[in-house]
Amino acid sequence: MSVNHLIDLSDWPRQNWEKIIRLALEIEQNPSRFYGRMEGRILATLFYEPSTRTQNSFKSAMMRLGGQCVGFSNPQNSSVSKGETLADTIRIMNGYADIIAIRHPKEGAAKAAAAYSRCPVINAGDGGHLHPTQTLTDLVTLTKEVGRLDNLTVGICGDLKYGRTVHSLIKALTQFPNNRFILISTKELVIPAYMKAILDAAGCSYREVTSLTEVIGELDVLYMTRIQRERFPSEQDYQEQKNVYILDTEKMSLARPAMKVLHPLPRVDEITPEVDDDPRAVYFKQAQYGVYTRMALILTLLEKPCAGSALFQGSAHSGEACANPNCITHTEPYLKKSFIETSNMLMCEYCEHKKLI
Ligand code: NCD
Repeated sequence: MSVNHLIDLSDWPRQNWEKIIRLALEIEQNPSRFYGRMEGRILATLFYEPSTRTQNSFKSAMMRLGGQCVGFSNPQNSSVSKGETLADTIRIMNGYADIIAIRHPKEGAAKAAAAYSRCPVINAGDGGHLHPTQTLTDLVTLTKEVGRLDNLTVGICGDLKYGRTVHSLIKALTQFPNNRFILISTKELVIPAYMKAILDAAGCSYREVTSLTEVIGELDVLYMTRIQRERFPSEQDYQEQKNVYILDTEKMSLARPAMKVLHPLPRVDEITPEVDDDPRAVYFKQAQYGVYTRMALILTLLEKPCAGSALFQGSAHSGEACANPNCITHTEPYLKKSFIETSNMLMCEYCEHKKLI
């Protein structure tokens, strides 16, 4: 039986997401009923990038379930700083832990880790690519706070280019009927082409706009995001983009009474502190739901393993290199490159970057 990983929610049927959402909401009602279920099990959190919420909510989830945690939050304190490959780190951690959550600055890193792992690997964020456990948290939040995952007009505002939470969330919400997207960003930070292809393939309606004020009144959900400073090619590029979108009480006064504001956090200055007191602001609750969501995910992956699908579907194209400079295949060159061929395109199976052939 192949191991069940969570690299991209799209690798799983929607029923699996729905089971996790239901379980997370059951846990939220009575967390202590689940205490002790992971006694004797160990979670490794391998964080090659900074994190407050994701790493600590994973640890808190495992500890509340009675399990324990190992890992690192700063690769400079691990053998990574001595030049250890990702593959070797994973092989070693397989002897120390039952499940691994990995965050890495390179796109496709979680999939690369899974290729070397005998235990489940969870993608806790890979570069600007995906962040599926944040998305599960977002889906739990929407279910609880909005009451549905379909028929929503969702505004996503800020860094749509580098924001991995944005990419994962759009991918997931396209799988529910009648969701419409209003994508609010500067022209420099629009969603990548591969995301537009996903929206088009799903037949989802979406509009790209630059003004939050003009569209806020149409929204059921406003998903605010931070400008991802660390992913910009230069500080000057970042300086030109910061402070463009700021949600304040004045803009909130134009929104529907039932609109909910989500944010994966951390926030920088894109939501003023006064908005926190508005009952429509649910981002701190959202962070709390992250613990129940990760408890549900760990229980699902370790208690009810089911046959996972093969990690790679495509074929190797000898001599081909991924055209995405931030793809993990460039920094871990021993990885077997794998591409899916679509008409005139090759799509890298690690980072989903497409190139013309
Ligand atoms: C997000 C991330 O790391 O992508 N944070 C999180 O996990 N909640 C969003 C961000 O860093 O802006």
